[in-house]
Amino acid sequence: MKRRSYLLSAGFVAVILTMTGMQTVQAAEVNIYSARQEHLIKPLLDDFFKETGISYKLLTGDGPALLERLRSEGRNSPADILITVDVGNLVAAKQAGVLQPVQSSLLEENILQQYRDAEGYWYGLSSRARVIYYDPDRVAPEAIARYEDLADPELGKVICVRSSSNIYNQSLVASMIAHHGVEETEQWVRGFVRNFARTPQDNDTAQIRAVASGECAVGIANSYYFGRLLASENLADQNVTSKVRVMWPNQQDRGVHMNLSGAGVTQSATNVEQAIKLLEFLSAAHAQEIYARENNEYPVNPKVPHSGPVVQMGTFKADELNLSLIEKYNAEAVRVMDRAGWR
Ligand SMILES: [Fe+2]
Repeated sequence: MKRRSYLLSAGFVAVILTMTGMQTVQAAEVNIYSARQEHLIKPLLDDFFKETGISYKLLTGDGPALLERLRSEGRNSPADILITVDVGNLVAAKQAGVLQPVQSSLLEENILQQYRDAEGYWYGLSSRARVIYYDPDRVAPEAIARYEDLADPELGKVICVRSSSNIYNQSLVASMIAHHGVEETEQWVRGFVRNFARTPQDNDTAQIRAVASGECAVGIANSYYFGRLLASENLADQNVTSKVRVMWPNQQDRGVHMNLSGAGVTQSATNVEQAIKLLEFLSAAHAQEIYARENNEYPVNPKVPHSGPVVQMGTFKADELNLSLIEKYNAEAVRVMDRAGWR
């Protein structure tokens, strides 16, 4: 009996010590600047708190505005981590000097290499594809199986796409430059522009709707916009998704062009360890599944299956081009689009 009670109290002391130890590590919180809306990210942050005991403060805003805020706050910024969408915003934050490099074997294990910065300044947390949509009554899928096919004069004036000032289109063209060089890409853009059904206008969803309404036979938009329409209970949206087909381009060669949402630890961070823990949490299976599904996106963790309405869009081969390169060629892409007359 005596021996047992000794063991019990030793165990009890061990628990107390562990708890005290945990408290010294976890007394801190993590301050988050997020371009992801509160209702999407808050449930995950609550799970993070339950799992680690690390509390959080959340400030939401749009990507460029949060970057501007970080820039003006400088070293005094309370932010430990910036969560934002589009690789353009992640690289802009790196270039503005508001992020710091972090290394973590867990992050390297969880996140595909092409979806993180080689120097550890930012890490992707979800991915999205830039997809071709078409009207099967007007276009044969073989005619638009590659982005390159969209410049074919035989296709005719059937394409709807938004303007060249849009970052998604700039990134697509930058990826073409990375694969084909400037000259070939400029030729492609010229042919592509000749095939426009109308002056570039409006947002991504409007291009999908324009295919459904017959204004164009081919449209370009990110995958999650179609996912949203698939999830919609609105009859008009359901009509759109039943009329329009999805083409995953370049499946026999380099794969479909991808983009990201992601995050990085800020230069001003005082809770670096907690910020890294949050990144690790968001890249692990539990959060990845929810984070991707809630936004109709895809996980960046290859061990996590696709979920939600986008599953209906089928599986695909993704371009493995490192997304840092997209930003490297952004300025060149903008010049190419301008020269080739993409307004
Ligand atoms: Fe978007």
